Amino acid sequence: MRLGWLEAVALTATIANAKDLAYSPPYYPSPWANGHGEWAEAHQKAVELVSQMTLVEKVNLTTGTGWMEDRCVGVTGSVPRLGIWGLCLQDAPLGIRFGDYASAFPAGVNVAATWDRKLAYLRGHAMGEEFRDKGIDAQLGPVAGPLGRYPDGGRNWEGFAPDPVLTGIMIAETIKGIQDAGVIATAKHFILNEEEHFRQAPEAQGYGYNVSESLSSNVDDKTMHEMYLWPFADAVRAGVGAVMCSYNQINNSYGCSNSYTMNKLLKAELGFQGFIMTDWQAHHSGVGDALAGLDMSMPGDVTFDSGTSYYGTNLTVAVLNGTVPEWRVDDMAVRIMSAYFKVGRDQVRTPPNFSSWTTNEYGYEHVIASEGWTKVNHRVNVRRNHAKVIHDVGVASTVLLKNDGALPLTCKEKFVAILGEDAGSNPLGANGCDDRGCDNGTLAMGWGSGSANFPYLVTPEQAIQHEVMKGEGTVIAATDNWNLENMASIASQASVALVFVNADSGEGYISVDGNEGDRKNLTLWKNGEELIKTVTQNCNNTVVVMHTVGPVLIDSWYDNPNVTAIIWAGLPGQESGNAIVDVLYGRVSPGGKSPFTWGKTRKDYGPALLTQPNNGHGAPQDNFDDGVFIDYRNFDKNQETPIYEFGYGLSYTTFAYSNLNVHRLPARPYHPAQGRTTHAPSYGKPGEASDYLYPEGLDRVDLFIYPWLNSTDLKKSANDPDYGMKHDEYIPDGARDGRPQELLPASGAPGGNSGLYEDLYRVSVTIKNTGHVVGDEVPQLYVSLGGPDDPVVVLRQFDRITLAPGQETVWQTTLNRRDLSNWDTASQNWVITKHPKKIHVGSSSRKLPLEAPLQDLH
Ligand code: BGC
Ligand code: BGC
Repeated sequence: MRLGWLEAVALTATIANAKDLAYSPPYYPSPWANGHGEWAEAHQKAVELVSQMTLVEKVNLTTGTGWMEDRCVGVTGSVPRLGIWGLCLQDAPLGIRFGDYASAFPAGVNVAATWDRKLAYLRGHAMGEEFRDKGIDAQLGPVAGPLGRYPDGGRNWEGFAPDPVLTGIMIAETIKGIQDAGVIATAKHFILNEEEHFRQAPEAQGYGYNVSESLSSNVDDKTMHEMYLWPFADAVRAGVGAVMCSYNQINNSYGCSNSYTMNKLLKAELGFQGFIMTDWQAHHSGVGDALAGLDMSMPGDVTFDSGTSYYGTNLTVAVLNGTVPEWRVDDMAVRIMSAYFKVGRDQVRTPPNFSSWTTNEYGYEHVIASEGWTKVNHRVNVRRNHAKVIHDVGVASTVLLKNDGALPLTCKEKFVAILGEDAGSNPLGANGCDDRGCDNGTLAMGWGSGSANFPYLVTPEQAIQHEVMKGEGTVIAATDNWNLENMASIASQASVALVFVNADSGEGYISVDGNEGDRKNLTLWKNGEELIKTVTQNCNNTVVVMHTVGPVLIDSWYDNPNVTAIIWAGLPGQESGNAIVDVLYGRVSPGGKSPFTWGKTRKDYGPALLTQPNNGHGAPQDNFDDGVFIDYRNFDKNQETPIYEFGYGLSYTTFAYSNLNVHRLPARPYHPAQGRTTHAPSYGKPGEASDYLYPEGLDRVDLFIYPWLNSTDLKKSANDPDYGMKHDEYIPDGARDGRPQELLPASGAPGGNSGLYEDLYRVSVTIKNTGHVVGDEVPQLYVSLGGPDDPVVVLRQFDRITLAPGQETVWQTTLNRRDLSNWDTASQNWVITKHPKKIHVGSSSRKLPLEAPLQDLH
């Protein structure tokens, strides 16, 4: 490509030199699964099954059949001879995308706000039951990438919180819940998928940006381990069956081509035994990605409905011509089937009884090809009593940020005004906008592939009106945010004005009001700030309720004396109104804690999201120079006082903390892993090209991806312009080496070296309910690791505890070796530094009344 003079100057001005770009070191060969720990039995079953498969059968498991070719958003090829029909992979992390008669659960960010492990598990389990009963093999969730580096990142709400420990614990509980119900969970998006802008070049081009490659998230090894990889380690340790690699590049190597992140971090270091699938169209090469550790191509075609694939036929060819060793394909198939057996798919499997592509009962089995007219939607109601867990999470995640005595309401308020569009219904219906790509009416989930269909949506207006009408109150709701005169008039008559406001975001392929997935700013949507201003000018008892995907700017109104209470309710799902009413009317005392910081300005959070290309037409470069200092760690470092800090939340009662006790536990010394792996196991020998020709008489579905060959001439079958390139020109050193490999020091059982999870301290604290009502408290334990480059404090433990008035309890928790370690880049291991360490316990990241040094660490 030739650049014009001006373009060339601009390019050199932004990025000095290609050789200065962040670089991702190679790591080969791709580690083979060994059935470690809890995987032993599943691995064995997988090996037995895969040993019976031919090359094309194995390849078929690794490759999707093409976008909209089958009923789910992703479906693999099948192995009918052995009774395996294609695996159905379906969004979303909060319920079944495109589902009918299924539930719309609260978003991940709300799960984080509960700080309640049990609720996280129960929600996961309930989702798992629904996916299972719809015939889905793998749920495409939960999410730990984005972690939430940017407060305005579009998909943060799909995940949990911008803290690796809170996210790690919640992702692990969610995974256990889903998988205990018999469905494979998928931890995504691996890794550093922190913004929507430039995640995929074609999408960015669609918005008019002139870039040819996806954004590169550039990170150092220490930040990678201490922040972004941490929750994925917890996911692996929880036994997650699948991981989805991401659209973005990591240090200038694509997420699904990156041997460092896939081979080294996930498979060698964390000992991941399941399979890695691509994000949809995130597959960038055949042989290269196979050797870099990618196990499954989704949805199988190179671009949606291209009819071509990097895997499928091409993977068969690559094995036959010797570029990809057979053991690598064996390993892919074993990993996929291990996940299948691990969650017990063989026990609970039913064929999909719904279609993603039509709401009609009848439709095409293969939509893109318009083939196979049949009954596709069987209308199976899978909801059970899941409204209860949805309601419970909704209530438990409600965060009370301010209360000057306005709450709880008593039902004796003479005139209740419910003001704001966010209190009401979407005029188009709860599912009126595709993938929830609009902000009409009350906000109960964000937009994109992370959304689900609502079976119903109880609005705040409906639920509050119902509540008021149990007595003799007057209740008037107004939802036109632009008619401020009308709002003023109603507010001036009200004894209490309940103002509902929101802020939305979502996935990059949909833009809502100019927000291309990511938020353009942190302000309230739909005239929200003006609405609050108008109401507070006319009513001295204004309660603000916010449904937002993350933090918003509240500096202009939060301390207005007429704002007598503020609540954040996040994205509560279908039971939204019922949950908020329980808190407003004091049936339950709020106990949620903010899973992120509320800063005064956007600047206080650190670097801005990248919204303009900064590397000419090449991959935009997003340097993670803020390291481990995101959210509260950044505010603490800069001594910037936020409005409400991470972990903050009020209750209708009060709690007192006392008696911090710390005990050193006997523990064995930490041993870096040593020795070597086994030789790459082989579960079959490739046959001849002639064994793998398309079966005679096969009725080929248009644009469908198959594993077979058109011809015994491999070059013809491959249909690849680069065919015949010399191996040494593109096969990395050692990539085909099946000999035993040296173990990494931090590696071991799934999740990493088991010594990392050994408890070193027991900590206990007395907590007392000093108020007059039953309430929940979330004691939080933070550690200062003590080094000059360490954050002031980092969260390490928490629990959610219910206490009656006057009741006290002793909260006990532990700290393990990883909790007290830093990643040491030199030894490539976790080490406990010499810096003096302290623990802090309290009710938020800044209210830490108890502290103690950690003695006898070394
Ligand atoms: C999203 C994934 C999703 C997939 C399938 C992608 O664009 O990034 O999160 O699972 O599509 O819908
Ligand atoms: C699909 C999503 C997918 C996205 C990828 C959309 O058309 O509906 O599932 O996440 O494309 O860019």
